Amino acid sequence: MRLLPLVVSVVSALSLAYYVYIPLPDAIQEPWKLMLLDASFRATFHLAVLKQWLGLDHYIKSIRQSTEFLSSESSGGVIPGVKIRDITFDGVAVRLYEPPAGGEGHLRRGLLYLHGGGWALGSSKRGTYDQINRMVSDELNTVVVAVEYRLYPEVHFPVPYLDCLAAAKHFLSPEVLSKYAIDPERVAVAGDSAGGNLAAAVAQEISTDDGVSVKFSVQALIYPVLQALDFNTPSYLQNQQMPVLSRNLMVQFWLQYLNADLSLQPQLLANNHSALHRSTITPELRSRVDWSVLLQQKYKKDHQPVVVEKGAHGIVKDVPALLDVRAAPLLASSEVLAKSPRSYVLTCEYDVLRDDGLMYARRLRDAGVTVTSEHYEDGFHGCFSFVAWPIEFEVGKRAVRGYLDWLQKNL
Ligand SMILES: *[C@@H]1O[C@H](CO)[C@@H](O)[C@H](O)[C@H]1NC(C)=O
Repeated sequence: MRLLPLVVSVVSALSLAYYVYIPLPDAIQEPWKLMLLDASFRATFHLAVLKQWLGLDHYIKSIRQSTEFLSSESSGGVIPGVKIRDITFDGVAVRLYEPPAGGEGHLRRGLLYLHGGGWALGSSKRGTYDQINRMVSDELNTVVVAVEYRLYPEVHFPVPYLDCLAAAKHFLSPEVLSKYAIDPERVAVAGDSAGGNLAAAVAQEISTDDGVSVKFSVQALIYPVLQALDFNTPSYLQNQQMPVLSRNLMVQFWLQYLNADLSLQPQLLANNHSALHRSTITPELRSRVDWSVLLQQKYKKDHQPVVVEKGAHGIVKDVPALLDVRAAPLLASSEVLAKSPRSYVLTCEYDVLRDDGLMYARRLRDAGVTVTSEHYEDGFHGCFSFVAWPIEFEVGKRAVRGYLDWLQKNL
């Protein structure tokens, strides 16, 4: 009887296809590659959750271990021409990229980079972060400082923010700038995703702190996370199941970062934390994240704001960081935004965070800041990190090239 093996193989092939296949928008190029990538992320995530459930290890630590094969930690040294060293800035671990010195009195650009990963994953020393920072250093003659800020579950807000701020202040000090021959008029802060959140928050603090004499001259925010009051923006709804970052996962990253109870997830998904009768959320504050005013019609489509009348008690009181501009930079006042440096905001159509970025670009522009808002119609969250073997996407390469070109012209 040869039927059984046949049935088994057909069933396993179908289950595998069922696990891997997800419907993707037509605009997404290389859809099967993205499906396979997403399936491997889901498998990694599910295994890690299972291990935690068995009491073996925290799931974030398992994910870190199992993604190490994707990108080994590169060592320091001189790779081609760029000198790489792992040092500390005011006690915070950083990786420093130094291009070859120019002649006497020749000043270079500076750039502080903050990597993404939901405030829980990722490292500047791994994979494409390291490669892109090396490219910026080499091609744009820039001293790059990539901050290895501490992550969840070891720490929570505000520790990652404070790590980045301390490194930024040290970097911008006249002594350090002159030690590395950096032009004080040409220093950038940049970051992607959760790193874009930290970059925006640090840029606001630096631009309004009278004690800091040298300011960032530009900020580059790559699909940044900027607010936690509305998880029903058109992009959160349109892309809730998109790889690489689902709506549920983003809310989970927020709760972890803010050291809140993970059981609050359904309440946040329902916008119950920002219900109308919560008087701590003033109409003024609400208007700063009001996508029905801040987004163009082509992004709003026929979505309606989800505004709950009564909602849940005490969430904003128990988790005050939901209203803290250091965690949610989109909540800053226009007066603060007006002091921001020239800005680059990259957004992707197929990204839950699209509207966070679009609203920030709009509010910065309304406050009088010069903004380049670069929107990738075929982009998805994380594409900026998928630009080299073993995972490369053409749209990611275009996004990285766009970022380098903008820095070349504006920094
Ligand atoms: C949100 O709050 C309402 C009360 O206004 C409640 O009925 C509902 O169950 C809550 N939703 C969730 C998901 O907890």
